Order: sequence, then C-alpha cells, then structure tokens
Amino acid sequence: MTASTGPVLANGKMGGRALIVGSTGFIGRFIAEACLDSGRPTYLLVRSGSSAFTSKAQTIHSLQNKGATIIIGTITDKKLMEKILEEYKIEVVISAVGGESILDQLQLITAIKAVGTVKRFLPSEFGHDIERAYPVEPGLQMYNEKRQVRRAIEEAGISYTYICCNSIAAWPYHDNTHPADVLPPLDRFHIYGDGNVKAYFVAGTDIGRLTMKVINDNRTINKAVHFRPPNNLLSINELASLWEKKINRNLPRVTITEDDLLNAANEMRIPESIVAAFTHDIFIQGCQINFALDKATDLEATSLYPDTPFRSIDECFDDFVSAVIDEHVMVAEKPASGSSEGIKLPVSEAYAITLSVA
Ligand SMILES: NC(=O)c1ccc[n+]([C@@H]2O[C@H](COP(=O)([O-])OP(=O)(O)OC[C@H]3O[C@@H](n4cnc5c(N)ncnc54)[C@H](OP(=O)(O)O)[C@@H]3O)[C@@H](O)[C@H]2O)c1
Repeated sequence: MTASTGPVLANGKMGGRALIVGSTGFIGRFIAEACLDSGRPTYLLVRSGSSAFTSKAQTIHSLQNKGATIIIGTITDKKLMEKILEEYKIEVVISAVGGESILDQLQLITAIKAVGTVKRFLPSEFGHDIERAYPVEPGLQMYNEKRQVRRAIEEAGISYTYICCNSIAAWPYHDNTHPADVLPPLDRFHIYGDGNVKAYFVAGTDIGRLTMKVINDNRTINKAVHFRPPNNLLSINELASLWEKKINRNLPRVTITEDDLLNAANEMRIPESIVAAFTHDIFIQGCQINFALDKATDLEATSLYPDTPFRSIDECFDDFVSAVIDEHVMVAEKPASGSSEGIKLPVSEAYAITLSVA
C-alpha cells in the first residue's frame, strides 16, 4: 500500500508543503501543475526579472491563479533558501532547474541540510539514469554535474528520490531541447541510424502526475524511480509510422547517421550539441534499454502504480494533430463525428496534408 508523507487535506488529497524550483521551465511547469492538482500546498521559487508580458510571467500568473504561492529568489542564495524552507515549513523540495544550472543545486542542498526539516528532495533529473548512461560530450558534462549533485545529497544524508522518466512524448528532434513544444514533422522524418533502437516516451502530464505519486510514497525514499511503460516503448521507425497514420500521409525518411549526430555534438553549440549527444545515446547506443533494473535502489513506476495508466504515445500524437489543425491551417472541413474520411485541409505549400481523425 502507498504510504503518505503528508497530512490529509480538507479536500481528501494528501501532502505537506512542497517547494518547486524551475516551474517556469519546460519540465517544471508539468510538475507545478500536477502538484497543484494533487491538492498539496504549492510554493514556487521564481527568479526575479521578467516583465509582465513574457511567457514566463504568464506561466507564473496562471499557476498563481491555480493556488500557488510565489516566492522570489534563487537557489544560489543559501541564507534566503534556509529562511524560505523554515518560514514556509517546506516538507518536499522538487527542483527542475535546467542544464546550465545543475550545480546551482549544491547551495540548495547545503540549505536543506542546515534546516533539517525537509522530508524529501527531488533534484533536477527527469531524464535518464545518469549513473548508467554515457553520452558523448557535451552531454557527458551535464551528467557529471548531475552525478555530483547526487553525491552531495547522499553525503548530506538528505532523503531523496531520483526520477528517471526517460523521453518526453514528442517527436525527438536532435536539435531541440523541448521537443514537446514543437509539432512532429510534416515534411520529412529524420531517422537516426537504422531507426530500430527503442526508447520510452512519457507524456509531460504523466511525468508530473507520477512524480506526485512518488513523493507521497515512502517506498520511493532514497530510490531511483524509472518510468518504463511497456506500451510507450517505440523505435523512431515505429514513431514515424504512427505519425504517418495520424496525418494520413507518408513522408520521406532521411537517415541521420551516427557520424552525423557525433559531428553535431562535436560542434559544441549549446544547447543543440547537448541534444545531439543525448539523441546519439538514446537512438544509437540504446541508453534507455541497455540495462536491467537490477539494483536494490531501482523501482519502476508501472510496477509501483499498476492502477495508474500512462497516456499512450498514440493519444499524445492525437494532441499534436489537433495542434496542427489549430496552428496551421487553414480552414478545415471537419467530417461528421464517426466519419472515417478524415479532415481535409486546403492545400498549403508547407502542409498539404489530409489528417485522419480517430
Ligand atoms: N526527459 C526529457 O525529455 C527532458 C527534456 C528536457 C529537460 N529534461 C530535464 O529536466 C530538467 C529541467 O530542464 P528544462 O529543460 O525543463 O529546464 P528549463 O526549461 O531551462 O527551465 C529551467 C527552470 O529553472 C529555473 N532556474 C534555473 N536556475 C535557477 C536558480 N538558480 N534558482 C531558481 N530557479 C532557477 C529557471 O528559471 P528562469 O525562468 O528564471 O530562468 C526555469 O524556470 C533538467 O534536468 C533536464 O535535463 C528532461
């Protein structure tokens, strides 16, 4: 049975106060939304300096409207962090700082240790098991920094969980850090190597939702939780076929070879080269599937929560189809509900396609 680490709230949901760092970011926003949905009192540490009209300000505003308490600050200010953790009686800290700020977490760890009242810390991981994956540079440097953060947490004796959620459900562009923000291709596919190496694709909302279950669960203390939903294990060839089915059109496939990816990584353009290094690790080296979960510290999310279904990649691609319709085009003649004819879109030079509807 799942054990709670926090009190039962008036609405029947569980949880002590959570502080989220990085909620204006790509992954952090999913975490913040899920934390608010879970009914936990949610505090967001936000760096100062954005004008009212930026997308960051809009994100903060929308999270605030959902009930979040905003605290201005940076995790590099140890004294401030101690004050915040104490004054707001924070029990759980979740960090989703980006790749360039991984080592900023060292000061946060010192503050968590000094205060001594935080029951769980989730550092910024949300990807691969960085102890078992060996991307080429400049990806390796980020993993070395994440490893350094893990060691600091363990040496400080802070209770932690590492979330290894694998890839976000989206088309895995090899030059884009935030693929779920971009539509899958409508002109041609880039296929990495032979296109047959598989990876796990997890919806951003599920990364948030499952992270909330993990922090409510004493079984996950000092463990790495791996997200391996069997139905979401696909090769890029399979992903391409699925998208072709959705858009009811075959697209040309262009091979991006191992050397192409290594050359892109070698260019040391940040962040594009980091993404190229990770793409090589996932789709050439098979870093998500080339090890068994055989350490005492390994847990797997679908085994922990068998009654919690993951969104399928098929459903996620349906969302992208809707976004294609919303974004691009064009006056769509929507068929009557249940029709198998598909949505016919006027011909556009870039997106002359006919979308099928489920
Ligand atoms: N599984 C996947 O497919 C996947 C994809 C992308 C990322 N990730 C992982 O997810 C984690 C988050 O990456 P991301 O791309 O979501 O990050 P991101 O979009 O760059 O966002 C980073 C967030 O951290 C905040 N931040 C940075 N330094 C801070 C500091 N010193 N104090 C307070 N806040 C700070 C930023 O605030 P500002 O708004 O002030 O800059 C921003 O809100 C990383 O570990 C990354 O490796 C996984």
